[in-house]
Amino acid sequence: MARTLAPDRVVPLLTGRFGSPYLHRLACTSTQRLLQPGLPEGAVAVCEEQTAGRGRLGRTWTAPAGAAVLCSILLRPPPGRQAAELSLVGGLAVAEVVEEALGAPAGLKWPNDVLVSGRKLAGILAESVSGAVVLGVGLNVNQAEGDLPPDARTPPASMRTVDGVARDRAPLLAALLASLERAYDTWGELGLAGLHAEIARRDVLAGRRVRVGELAGIAAGIDAAGALVLDTPSGRRAVISGEVSVSALDAP
Ligand code: BTN
Repeated sequence: MARTLAPDRVVPLLTGRFGSPYLHRLACTSTQRLLQPGLPEGAVAVCEEQTAGRGRLGRTWTAPAGAAVLCSILLRPPPGRQAAELSLVGGLAVAEVVEEALGAPAGLKWPNDVLVSGRKLAGILAESVSGAVVLGVGLNVNQAEGDLPPDARTPPASMRTVDGVARDRAPLLAALLASLERAYDTWGELGLAGLHAEIARRDVLAGRRVRVGELAGIAAGIDAAGALVLDTPSGRRAVISGEVSVSALDAP
């Protein structure tokens, strides 16, 4: 494996609280399982390959060894904050880093996908564990087209399939942790309202005809509580969880 995410390559690049401690494994079942709730907030687990990577709604998350950023961060949201909003907070942080690296706009597909040109580059998984939240990020970096899952609901992409560049993942991970820490601190202080304009600007569903379970309508944005707002034939409805179906997504 060429350039790993071993501590000696990543820890010197870290600038904030996130990443202390920094746990790295060559292989693990899922980074979501490496963080014991007794660890301090900001503890990060990273591995090169997951044997049982988890996606939302019981799905799997796969990536060849050494090709993606697979990490989990332990968070303890302040009282009054809704942990479910962390998918959007994480998505925004990843979108900012991807945008900077690719020089192309990155969108958010509610509630947890980061898209470039209508293809999914990253997914976020927020899981509550013993009063803490483990926030998992899977970011496709160096996969070739044939390495991406053929059966994904949203067509997948990697940073390399977007611009043809193979990247060192270490500076990308450091940037991601710094971006996440900034977004998380803003959210802790101001709630989702502090990030809402940036989230709304990247909302790829706005104005599109979508379906969430039994409910069909036109997506009318993401509200201040992080719910997806739908204009349906029976009026405006706020959806707090579920899987969005949409015919096709234009750029970004
Ligand atoms: C999704 O889009 O369904 C969420 C995917 C989250 C994947 C990441 S990879 C690192 C962390 N460990 C896991 O098992 N899942 C998350």
